[in-house]
Amino acid sequence: MTAGFDSMLNGCRLLAVLTVPSTAMAGPLADALAAGGARCAEVTFRTPGAERVLKEMAAHGGLVVGAGTVLTSEQVERAVAAGARFVVSPGFDEGVVAKCRELGVPVVPGIATATELMRALRAGLDTVKLFPAEALGGLRTLRALAAPFPGMRFVPTGGIDASRLAAYLADPAVLAVGGSWMATSAHLERGDYKDIRRLTVEAVEAVERSMT
Ligand code: 3PG
Repeated sequence: MTAGFDSMLNGCRLLAVLTVPSTAMAGPLADALAAGGARCAEVTFRTPGAERVLKEMAAHGGLVVGAGTVLTSEQVERAVAAGARFVVSPGFDEGVVAKCRELGVPVVPGIATATELMRALRAGLDTVKLFPAEALGGLRTLRALAAPFPGMRFVPTGGIDASRLAAYLADPAVLAVGGSWMATSAHLERGDYKDIRRLTVEAVEAVERSMT
């Protein structure tokens, strides 16, 4: 049986969403995130080098690395071959979910409506990504959607930054929060690993405060 996303994350509540323009950035990025205290990260399949980046970041050892923006079952295969420990998708696609099951990798599909939540439930999933969280109405929408689905856990992602992190983490339906604010493409383009580390430290501190 496929391990759940929850056990794969092993208590990590902050998911750094990474769109990495060049494979040369993978090593220094993994170093900066791990030095800042991050424990898990999602490499999006939005760049031609995403698989190489994923492979190198997974080899770093300090992070549980998964694949994001996975849209097709063929991309699931490539992501898993590159070492993805979990798969995240912006939406709900039965083919993606089935392929993840077949390959024994936890999958977190995106949902934005109660109908999509019911499809996720029917597929036997207990964790979904609320996407795009802030544009959908943020915590207010998350709470309204979560109410009829008491067993479902959420990974809100999309438009969230440090200022909103603690509020999301305080909600019992929230398993983890995803976001790119700690390590944006702009950070990476200018080689600002120092700021990536600083923002990661701040975010990890907010996570730790939320657990006390
Ligand atoms: C994602 O792919 O999950 C989102 O693009 C991340 O959203 P953010 O860039 O607004 O944090």
